[in-house]
Amino acid sequence: MFQDLSTLPPDPLLGIAVAYKADTNPKKIDLGVGIYKTEEGTTPILDSVQQAITTLTETEDSKAYIAAQGNADYLAGMQALLLGSDNPLLTSGRISAIQAPGGTGSLRLGSELIAAAKPGATVWVSDPTWANHVPLMKSAGLDLKVYPYFDTETNSLKADEMLATLETLGENDVVLLHGCCHNPTGEDIPLDVWRKIIKLAVEKKFTPYVDIAYQGFGVDLETDVQGVRELAAAVPEMLIAASCSKNFGLYRERTGMIAVISEDADKAEAVRTNTLSIARGIYSMPPSYGAALVGIILKDEELTKVWKAELAEMCERMNSLRTLLVSKLKELGVEKDFSHIERQAGMFSFLGINKEQVQRLRDEYSIYMAGNSRINIAGISKANVEYLAESIAAVL
Ligand SMILES: Cc1ncc(COP(=O)(O)O)c(C=O)c1O
Repeated sequence: MFQDLSTLPPDPLLGIAVAYKADTNPKKIDLGVGIYKTEEGTTPILDSVQQAITTLTETEDSKAYIAAQGNADYLAGMQALLLGSDNPLLTSGRISAIQAPGGTGSLRLGSELIAAAKPGATVWVSDPTWANHVPLMKSAGLDLKVYPYFDTETNSLKADEMLATLETLGENDVVLLHGCCHNPTGEDIPLDVWRKIIKLAVEKKFTPYVDIAYQGFGVDLETDVQGVRELAAAVPEMLIAASCSKNFGLYRERTGMIAVISEDADKAEAVRTNTLSIARGIYSMPPSYGAALVGIILKDEELTKVWKAELAEMCERMNSLRTLLVSKLKELGVEKDFSHIERQAGMFSFLGINKEQVQRLRDEYSIYMAGNSRINIAGISKANVEYLAESIAAVL
């Protein structure tokens, strides 16, 4: 059966993680894999999550399957978080929301739904996009194309080129948009450009597909989804794949949701039943634990406050590290312009250095990042920023 399979190369980012672990240099810095880290370089369980774990341990009385659609408190809380608790869409019957294994599982479920509904559909992804978008959507049998997004020469959004491409799309096209904190560039869509995209989506009738894995990591929970909310209010149909991996720190618990907005309640029911049927054929029932914790947090006002404060702290820390790195580089007299890092949002930015310089940082200074110079901002700390800036200055 498996004689014709050959061994695949390891995932490049995971390879970097292995090399980092084996490195004995005490000054080593890991800016690779996209996981939030504290000043101490750890990824602890949030206090709000810890409190929810206590509640869940005391109250959970069965390990029977949960409902195929997922935990009701979780689904209600997540929709309110994304769209705003007073959004009329929440009570319109137009949303089909299904709990899925992580943001990835949610994205895959949405992609399978698109493939089932419109077998010839093309999904347009930003250039560049999160590396996993490509295999994930291709595996669902979708045709993929890219729209211009980021200019690596000027470190800025290619807004005009992006809009010009979207202008050419039609009913059989799906446009994948990062809700906020674009991975890998950190370059977000400003609200005036969101509004132009929304106008085009309505006029050209393409279907927006929003991937939101970092709500609350950019500016705050509300500001980060303003574009998404305006889009949801304007278009007849769209998909939103949300992840709780980063903002609730629930990475390994695989906690996500696919919410599909349909034209009316009848269509939403068709979408709901079809999505559940697809899920049944892949993993049958969603994992319970992470969503149960998020459901407990979002249903409890006090616990929600604790979580929001923890999220704000993570966000502020990353934004202050962005400022700190840029100012340290300036202090060292580096002429190259790194100001985009301070302007951008979320967990990632490109340093904007070449492959040889990335390799030298790794070989000579034990500083690890993706080959395209994407850095995980949370891997920087007040303790290592000086060494990081000096090392960058040295390889330029
Ligand atoms: C842009 C983007 N979308 C989705 C995900 C999915 O995350 P997960 O499957 O861990 O919830 C990630 C994780 O890195 C991401 O960066």
